[in-house]
Amino acid sequence: MTLAVSALDDGGGATHGARHVAIIMDGNGRWAKKRHLPRAFGHKKGVEAVREVVRAARGMGLEAMTLYAFSSENWRRPEDEINDLMGLMRTFIRSDLAEFVANDVRLHIIGDYRVLAPDLVAMIDDALAKTAHNRGTTLAIALNYGAQQEIVFAARAAAVKGDITLEAIEAELYTADMPPLDLLIRTSGEERLSNFLLWQAAYAELWFSEVLWPDFTPAHLAQALEAFAARERRYGGR
Ligand code: IPE
Ligand code: IPE
Ligand code: MG
Repeated sequence: MTLAVSALDDGGGATHGARHVAIIMDGNGRWAKKRHLPRAFGHKKGVEAVREVVRAARGMGLEAMTLYAFSSENWRRPEDEINDLMGLMRTFIRSDLAEFVANDVRLHIIGDYRVLAPDLVAMIDDALAKTAHNRGTTLAIALNYGAQQEIVFAARAAAVKGDITLEAIEAELYTADMPPLDLLIRTSGEERLSNFLLWQAAYAELWFSEVLWPDFTPAHLAQALEAFAARERRYGGR
């Protein structure tokens, strides 16, 4: 008997069964600190990890990936760090948009990104428009995202339509047009949700890794998907 479960089958299709994976990319600051480097270096290296993981996602058969880039609570950080993070977002869009277009990646933003700097909002809107018709992988980036606020917005929108049901609220979430969340990963050894996808995580499998985000590679993602494949999802049934 073999217990080896591969997250990939030979045809590149998925055998793990996951459609939508979300990641709380944590540990950039600690990665830099360990190397006596400024935090900004950790964030920069973190973007490189994002690039590799996004490139790998499609080959691993994922339809959607949601990445926590900036939480609504991250405004509590010093201004220079916030500026570094926003600058990296600009660089990321500038350098990777062509690749998304070429590789059929549909960009999606979850969170209230419209309050960000006008030039960044314009860049994001342009990227959204240029990838809107792509059907390969949906890459959702959580920017100024907080799950509690998302639920408030969704409930309010449902109420305006006079239909405060589970389905109606779900239809107003940022993730409404995405597959259900299967697997939620958090790096850096922290085991909390930090206001990320609280509604969507209701029956997601959770996978925690000690690896600091800048060190996270597609091999770690494959490892998480293998663990996911071995889980029994019961949804309260038996
Ligand atoms: C994650 O790394 C990136 C963001 C939250 C934007 P951190 O900056 O939180 O890194 P640590 O947790 O301080 O190591
Ligand atoms: C969560 O990480 C937010 C992102 C990864 C963008 P934090 O580092 O902000 O979370 P806490 O403060 O440790 O809970
Ligand atoms: Mg952190």
